[in-house]
Amino acid sequence: MAFTLDVTSMTEPVVGAGVPAAEWPTLAARFREAHAAVAGIAATGVYGYRELEAQADERARVTTFAAGVQGQYDDIVVLGIGGSSLGAMALRTALLPAAWNARTDAQRGGRARLHVLDNVDPRTIAGVLSIVTLPRTLFVVISKSGGTIETLAQYLVVRARLDGDGLEAARHLAFVTDPAKGALRVIAARDGIPVFAVPPNVGGRFSVLSPVGLLPAALCGIDVEGLCAGATVMRDATMGDDLEHNAAGLFATLQWRAHERAGQGLHVMMPYSDALRDLAPWFVQLWAESLGKINRDGTHVGPTPIASVGATDQHSQVQLFMEGPADKTVTFLRVDAAADDVEIPRLESGEPALAFLGGHTLGELLDVECRATASALARAGRPSMTMTVGASDAWHVGGLMMWFMQATTLAGALYRVDPLDQPGVELGKRLANKDLGHPNFLSEAKGTLPQDAAIPHRRLRVG
Ligand code: PA5
Repeated sequence: MAFTLDVTSMTEPVVGAGVPAAEWPTLAARFREAHAAVAGIAATGVYGYRELEAQADERARVTTFAAGVQGQYDDIVVLGIGGSSLGAMALRTALLPAAWNARTDAQRGGRARLHVLDNVDPRTIAGVLSIVTLPRTLFVVISKSGGTIETLAQYLVVRARLDGDGLEAARHLAFVTDPAKGALRVIAARDGIPVFAVPPNVGGRFSVLSPVGLLPAALCGIDVEGLCAGATVMRDATMGDDLEHNAAGLFATLQWRAHERAGQGLHVMMPYSDALRDLAPWFVQLWAESLGKINRDGTHVGPTPIASVGATDQHSQVQLFMEGPADKTVTFLRVDAAADDVEIPRLESGEPALAFLGGHTLGELLDVECRATASALARAGRPSMTMTVGASDAWHVGGLMMWFMQATTLAGALYRVDPLDQPGVELGKRLANKDLGHPNFLSEAKGTLPQDAAIPHRRLRVG
């Protein structure tokens, strides 16, 4: 089995505000319109995340480089943020064995540990730098623009350490950035640092299948060709304009419809699989940064994605999903065959609270809990859908990520926004650059605050 999307619990009569049978033709027509809009834009070449064949040469450079340095490093440290780091984190969790970084060299088969910084909190950076052995570490600096202050600050901290220890930059750094522009290109050319290109038409949060996600993955032995093969199959299966046969279109249309017609704009992504748990924050960034915008009609639109994980959050957020405001949809991600399943021992046979568990497996328990939660939500009138993947291997994970990216592109057309831009984050970036003394920061274009002295501050200090 490959992928199955079950949307029964998004429909009437299973849930009250679900899609009634009579509405399907309208939704199918709306989807065809959105699909046509995407197809029109696609002709301009902006959806580079789909062009996996065109990226084969750069992918080959990535795998050749990774094979060439195999055994030279014990630790790979990714420096990056947002779309330049969340994909690597999702791939690490999904495709490397559990507790990878805690395993011995022998248990890792000689492959490197993988750390992803994803922030500028000094605690994390100092913590990672304190446990790696610099002469055995490769730092992969990832920034499409080459101008993101968090990533550049991480780089400066690391570079000073390398220089201070007399270590050669060209052996301990690799860059992933724009093919022609940006500060990282200049430094790479000057210092002979290996550099890999993010195609200009692949945006940060859509870049996991470019060297942004693939270089860290390949360096740890993940099957990048398998990832791209699964993604290609999913891409080809999600290009059509027939709602009932396009799984990405179905996901996008039903989420959009739940938001627009039923006031359910909070979209929970809930993997019942620890391997897939970091796909949820990756999806959250993709869905939020792509769709939360002022749309072409001048309206503030966009769903609010929420990351959750089963069964853990049954003891946390599920209470809210069941009985809180009816403003959410839940998407369950489940794996058909749990890897390395564990049988629950038949112990404590005299104790009814434990005895019945004996003989089942932990994978079975997780799966039963997923189905039970979906059923409980439906009984409470709360919509959900379930995506089942055949296994949590590279092929399926690549397919799943492509499914989400295709769905996001189509949802952009439904919400009437450009899913590829992020104008809303620019002002904060400019203000931070200004405060730090960037010589060329652009003065803010819009949005004002009263002068500080005129603001009646309300602050409470305790202790
Ligand atoms: O999705 C996006 O475009 C952003 O989240 C970027 O990935 C993030 O801002 C980092 O940008 P860059 O790769 O240019 O450093």
